[in-house]
Amino acid sequence: MQRLARRWQSERIPVGFVPTMGYLHAGHLSLVKRARKEVGAHGKVVLSIYVNPTQFAPTEDLAKYPRDLQGDLRRCREAGVDVVFVPSDAEMYPQPAGEAYSTYVLEENLSRRMEGVSRPIHFRGVTTVVAKLFNLVLPRVAVFGAKDFQQATIIRRMVRDLHFPIKIIVAPTVRENDGLAKSSRNKYLSPAERPQALALSQAIQAAREQVRQAARPLPAAKLKALLTRQIQAHPAARVDYLEFFNPRTLEPASQVAPGVQMAMAVFMGKTRLIDNGLL
Ligand code: PAF
Repeated sequence: MQRLARRWQSERIPVGFVPTMGYLHAGHLSLVKRARKEVGAHGKVVLSIYVNPTQFAPTEDLAKYPRDLQGDLRRCREAGVDVVFVPSDAEMYPQPAGEAYSTYVLEENLSRRMEGVSRPIHFRGVTTVVAKLFNLVLPRVAVFGAKDFQQATIIRRMVRDLHFPIKIIVAPTVRENDGLAKSSRNKYLSPAERPQALALSQAIQAAREQVRQAARPLPAAKLKALLTRQIQAHPAARVDYLEFFNPRTLEPASQVAPGVQMAMAVFMGKTRLIDNGLL
């Protein structure tokens, strides 16, 4: 991959990159479309498929994370991806002669909030693998989905702090017709849980409505309690976190007003879903 990327670099061919963990859906394909728009017909679009073990805790769903390489390759071909990069664990985390792998990239501020509280090693895994992928693919532009809002914010910060010469684009969340954000993990939802999963997008709509109707900023704690009650009225739902914050710094907001970002993680049965929106 790196040899090819260096050749493209020497020929001044721009590369647009979409890192994924596979099991591609319309959300991923919208990122491909955006990457193509950025680099044009003359550029190359690379999509990586790698279920990165370092961003999963031992208790999480690494082993059963959904995979469909043949279907993904077909979808990539149809979407006009030039190269699908599918590295192995041994390539991404080399351990020659059994030497333990030992180098990580750690963002130490934004990673500590929200997802980072519930999943303490998650973002270390994400920043590490994304930095590695950047070094292998050498993109001019990389496209991430807004559904993983915190991840995208951390990647922007990493790119700034470590001087990666890469433009980061965050493309809008793609939703099902009823509002559920597209996610590979939606596959885990049982028929009884699927309609209840609308609770996340409905909570964002409800928060927007509250903000629209309010004459002045609303206390975040009150709105959080109200929305948590509404979500947990669904029997399968348990709120992991629901936060209001500044979209650039991720600093918590004590008052909710237009321009504040909202994000949440909710367990629907055993499936953990995330969603977010600007109010
Ligand atoms: O968002 C994802 O699919 C993953 O976190 C990423 C960015 C591909 C890193 O493994």
